[in-house]
Amino acid sequence: MIEPCDLLLVHSKELLTIRGASKKPKASTEMEDLGIIHDGALAIKDGRILEVGPTEEIEKRYRIEALEVIDASGKVVLPGFIDPHTHAVFGGTREEEFTLRLQGKSYLEILKEGGGILSTVRATRALSAEELAETCKGYLDNMLLHGTTTVEIKSGYGLNLKEELKILEAIELLKKRHPIDIVPTFLGAHAVPAEFRDNPKGYVEEVIDMLPRVKGRVRFCDVFCDEGAFSLEDSRKILERAKALGFGIKLHAGEFKDLGGTSLAAELGACSVDHLDYVNDQGIESLVKKGVVVVLLPGVPFFLGQSHFAPARRMIEKGLPVALGTDFNPGSCPTENMQLIITLACLEMGLSPEEAINAATINAAHAIGMADQVGSLEPGKKADIVILDIPSYKHLPYRFGTNHVDMVIKAGKVAVEEGKIVLGHRA
Ligand code: NIG
Ligand code: FE
Repeated sequence: MIEPCDLLLVHSKELLTIRGASKKPKASTEMEDLGIIHDGALAIKDGRILEVGPTEEIEKRYRIEALEVIDASGKVVLPGFIDPHTHAVFGGTREEEFTLRLQGKSYLEILKEGGGILSTVRATRALSAEELAETCKGYLDNMLLHGTTTVEIKSGYGLNLKEELKILEAIELLKKRHPIDIVPTFLGAHAVPAEFRDNPKGYVEEVIDMLPRVKGRVRFCDVFCDEGAFSLEDSRKILERAKALGFGIKLHAGEFKDLGGTSLAAELGACSVDHLDYVNDQGIESLVKKGVVVVLLPGVPFFLGQSHFAPARRMIEKGLPVALGTDFNPGSCPTENMQLIITLACLEMGLSPEEAINAATINAAHAIGMADQVGSLEPGKKADIVILDIPSYKHLPYRFGTNHVDMVIKAGKVAVEEGKIVLGHRA
C-alpha cells in the first residue's frame, strides 16, 4: 500500500540517524556510533519523521504520493544541530576586549574593572525587548544558516527583575517569530551587578526573590559558579530554591576554577553541568553516578587564548555523556557555528568526529530536556534535518572554517537553501 507523505528525502550518501538514545544520552563507546544508512532516505509528514531507511525501501512505499522530493545524492544528512548553551540575547558587542586580551589582559581582569559581562549589562539595559529581539534575530539567523535548529538561550544581562523579565520577553517574541526552537533558561546569577558590588550577598537574595516571578517563563535555572562570579554556597542557595519551585537545574562550573560545583549539580539532579574546563576525577565520578550530561564549550578557552580545555577523553572513559555547545555570547565566544565547535572539540579535546557529532546532536538534546523531540532522525521525531555538501561526515571537522550547509529542513519545511533563509518567520 502507498502511504502519502509531504516530503521525501532520498539518496543521501550517508544518512546519520544518531538513533537509539532518545531515553538516555550516549556514553562511552555508544558515542562512536552514528547509526549510518548508506544511500539513505527519510519520509516526512506534518513536520515529523514517518520513516527512515535505505532509499530503495522508502521509495517503494512513499515515492508516488510524495508532494516534494529532495535528492541528497553525494551529500551527508544528519539531525539539525542542538546548541544547548547560549547567552544570545544581549545589547552591544565587545570587540575592544578582544584587542585588550591580545595585549595580555585576562578575561577576569577585564571583568573586575567593570568591563566584560557588566559592560554588556549596561548595553542590554539600554534596549527595549523589541530591540533586543531584533538584534538576537540576526544571531538566530546565523545559527540556522549553520545548521542549528534548536537552541537554549539564557537570560543574565539584566541582573534585576525588570531587566531579566525584559530579556525573557525578547525570548518570547523570538519564540513566536523565529523558526528555530528556543529553550529559555533564567541566569539571574550571571554576575553581581554594579549596584550590589559592596553587597554581593544582597544580590543572591535578590535572585532568590526573582525566582517566583520568572517561573513559568523558563525551563531551567542556571548559576555561574566560578571565580569572579558566585560561590558554591551562594549557588546552592539559589539552586535549592529553584529546585523547590520546580525549575530544571543547570550550572556553569569550572570555566576558570573548580569550586566544587559538580558535586552540587549531581546532588541536585541537574539536567546538565556546563564548561568544566577545570574539574577533578571525583567531580566527574559524582556526575557519572547521577547520569548528568556535561556540556563542553571548547570555543571559550579557544577564544580566550587559554590552553586548558575540558578533559573530555577522561570524561568519556569514565562513562560521562558529553554534549557540545557554542556558549554564544559577546565576550567569551562570539560564534554561532556548531560546525566550528565540532572541529575544536576534535582538535583541542581529543574527541573523534563520531563522538563530536553525537555530542552536538542527541547528547545536546538531552542536555536541554528535548531528546524525546529532536537530536536524532527517528520515526515520530521532529523533522529537523541538515544536508551537508560533503561526501562523508569525516569532512565535517576536517574541512574547518567553512559552512558546509546545503539545506536545512525545519519541522518538515525547507528553511535554508542556497545559503539563504527561505522559511518566513512564524506568524
Ligand atoms: O559562559 N560564563 C558566563 N558567561 C559567559 C560569558 C559571558 C560574557 O562574557 O558576556 C560564559 O563564558
Ligand atoms: Fe555560558
